[in-house]
Amino acid sequence: MKGVRNIYHHSYTFLLVFFVMILFRPAFSLSTLSSTESLTISSNRTLVSPGNIFELGFFRTNSRWYLGMWYKKLSGRTYVWVANRDNPLSNSIGTLKISNMNLVLLDHSNKSVWSTNLTRENVRSPVVAELLANGNFVVRDPSGFLWQSFDYPTDTLLPEMKLGYDLKTGLNRFLVSWRSSDDPSSGDFSYKLDIQRGLPEFYTFKDNTLVHRTGPWNGIRFSGIPEEQQLSYMVYNFTENSEEVAYTFLVTNNSIYSRLTINFSGFFERLTWTPSLVIWNPIWSSPASFQCDPYMICGPGSYCDVNTLPLCNCIQGFKPLNVQEWDMRDHTRGCIRRTRLSCRGDGFTRMKNMKLPETTMATVDRSIGVKECEKKCLSDCNCTAFANADIRDGGTGCVIWTGRLDDMRNYAVSGQDLYVRLAAADVVEKRTANGKIVSLIVGVCVLLLLIFFCLWKRKQRRAKAMATSIVHRQRKQILLMNGMTLSNNRQLSRENKTGEFELPLIELEAVVKSTENFSNCNKLGQGGFGIVYKGTLDGQEIAVKRLSKTSVQGADEFMNEVTLIARLQHINLVQILGCCIDADEKMLIYEYLENLSLDSYLFGKTRSSKLNWKERFDITNGIARGLLYLHQDSRFRIIHRDLKVSNILLDKNMIPKISDFGMARIFARDETEANTMRVVGTYGYMSPEYAMEGIFSEKSDVFSFGVIVLEIVTGKRNREFNNENNLLSYAWSNWKEGRALEIVDPDIVDSLSPLSSTFQPQEVLKCIQIGLLCVQELAEHRPTMSSVVWMLGSEATEIPQPKPPGYWVRRSSYELDPSSSKCDDDSWTVNQYTCSVIDAR
Ligand SMILES: *[C@@H]1O[C@H](CO)[C@@H](O)[C@H](O)[C@H]1NC(C)=O
Ligand SMILES: *[C@@H]1O[C@H](CO)[C@@H](O)[C@H](O)[C@H]1NC(C)=O
Repeated sequence: MKGVRNIYHHSYTFLLVFFVMILFRPAFSLSTLSSTESLTISSNRTLVSPGNIFELGFFRTNSRWYLGMWYKKLSGRTYVWVANRDNPLSNSIGTLKISNMNLVLLDHSNKSVWSTNLTRENVRSPVVAELLANGNFVVRDPSGFLWQSFDYPTDTLLPEMKLGYDLKTGLNRFLVSWRSSDDPSSGDFSYKLDIQRGLPEFYTFKDNTLVHRTGPWNGIRFSGIPEEQQLSYMVYNFTENSEEVAYTFLVTNNSIYSRLTINFSGFFERLTWTPSLVIWNPIWSSPASFQCDPYMICGPGSYCDVNTLPLCNCIQGFKPLNVQEWDMRDHTRGCIRRTRLSCRGDGFTRMKNMKLPETTMATVDRSIGVKECEKKCLSDCNCTAFANADIRDGGTGCVIWTGRLDDMRNYAVSGQDLYVRLAAADVVEKRTANGKIVSLIVGVCVLLLLIFFCLWKRKQRRAKAMATSIVHRQRKQILLMNGMTLSNNRQLSRENKTGEFELPLIELEAVVKSTENFSNCNKLGQGGFGIVYKGTLDGQEIAVKRLSKTSVQGADEFMNEVTLIARLQHINLVQILGCCIDADEKMLIYEYLENLSLDSYLFGKTRSSKLNWKERFDITNGIARGLLYLHQDSRFRIIHRDLKVSNILLDKNMIPKISDFGMARIFARDETEANTMRVVGTYGYMSPEYAMEGIFSEKSDVFSFGVIVLEIVTGKRNREFNNENNLLSYAWSNWKEGRALEIVDPDIVDSLSPLSSTFQPQEVLKCIQIGLLCVQELAEHRPTMSSVVWMLGSEATEIPQPKPPGYWVRRSSYELDPSSSKCDDDSWTVNQYTCSVIDAR
């Protein structure tokens, strides 16, 4: 009986859904064109993508009609795709419809002017055309896409669109400019990938003549477009595998419109919509320098440098092929070697900040590093130069050139190291000239410096001991004195950095007043680097971090570093508001964040204080973006070194802010090179290579990030586990056995809990997988933060399978440094466990 009732029930529901669908059909089919419908010029109907971003329809320019796509909401039409660009309709009669499983565009005489030209068999009905949210116009049957406009770009690359080869179908997707501002027909310029040989790179052609190269992809950007900044809201990706070689980008903030275009003057530009000005703002364009960027402006064996006259220069060890021509400023024939390569006993000259030479004659091996690359080049008599294929992580992979070195230029900053092979005679010449003398001088200097440093350090220590006792006794007087030196300092810093960004210096007296003379009631927390107080300055709530006085860093150096950090501005970083400095006192003034740090929201005992899944996912994303910004901002790379949940603060909108960023880096400066054995971090978050060998890199931050992700998902602290059975191994063993969801915080899985309403198993699994990827044992296996952000932000990306995590077991030979003040809580909440661990070697 029960079963029969169920069947009735089901068919009833089905009918209801069916009627509702028919009733609301017009609203539902805004973005789709079914096989019975058509789009005509006269009907004025358009397709609109879900989310209202893109609109597809007919448009007229130069008294011709085209089928195209533009941004729905932006004023002024910006066309991102044109179907029949080279075959316009000559009058206002035109129809787009599905006919014979194909999408066709018919003119007034019902002749097809454009079609998807599909000849696939096994197509099933119904076939529909649909405009997707990302601007991809697709033709599909129930089994999937048959055709997509993303495969046939016009002059614009939208987010998620791929430029380059699909090796499975042999399709090369490239851009061709418009002919002029009102003529969408194929113009003179095209921008396409070349994968003939060696490292793939993009070329700009003008009527089939190569006019500009982007240079190969170096892991972060194209070697010849150093202008390509790392933007906080954008992730770039260049994929090279057996299925495809393609470039794509993703915009992580939905309210930002950005695109890449080859314009009809031949520039490849990144444009981002600026609502306040109602314009497309060019972020960068390439070629950027008309002097040095045109292809082969300097002949083979020479490179272009905008800061020299003439612009073309021979590579060291090379001379002009024809001196007379060269002196007449004709550099087209370039330079040749002074001495021919002999194959044995050759050496190399390092050229810094280069755009790498043309790669058609290059081969690449991604498995070896720069040392092996040098060996490989030496053992190949045809090798003329080599370089790293990927500049991340200090450089990996090996590109080897044979034959000529073409189309190089030199940059003032950025660019890449290129090692050019030279005959022994050309290398040795230089070495004997300076080599021995230089090494002697350097040796003596180092020795002298060491002696001075030791003497100075001893003196400092004594002075400090005396000073501290004075401070205690005569506090009032010292404050007065500090006020005086403060004004001196201010003068100094102004003079140093005229016209540059300047961090407000805040009067010591004001800080003292705002924190009620550093009263204990205002204490927010205590950390390795000092005590944090709450204060109020000009009505604004601030957090004052008073650095401990053991730091021997000079005032100037401190200012420089703080200014540097103050320039880091990102929604996911705590903002520095100012600093206060004096010979002895150094304080950092931060924005005060009302909410507590992330740990109290994760590990709180009561359900009401805990976060739901959506909040956790948003926070994970925010931390990833903040960290990506620290790691990859074009100006400087910062390794946080002490990332942990208690260093993630939440503002009133629950936006995560990484705090204490870069502090580790600042404070590492007051130690000498010999002292880098000192490992500062938090037990439970340190990567194995950092904890055991003191090696830190971006990948050690990635490791800490992975631990944080797993803590966010599970609601468990890593250090609540014991050594052998920690959070990482717990997550790993469950993952391996396909029981990953069992580690998720029970409160967000429990269907009775109010926290579970946003629970998304797929998203949670993705986070666990990413977390495990980040804590893999070998640093080189861990993803970079840009891949992490990419993986978190995109739904389609295939995420690699993680390898076992790395963790280290604290052995008895690790001691806590008794003299270090860092063995206490370094955060704004209480009960933390931050320790400085000294390697016992
Ligand atoms: C996205 O961009 C808009 C406009 O620039 C900005 O107002 C907003 O805060 C950004 N959102 C995030 C999450 O970054
Ligand atoms: C093409 O791009 C360059 C570089 O952004 C710009 O200077 C030029 O005005 C653009 N040309 C057109 C026609 O938009």
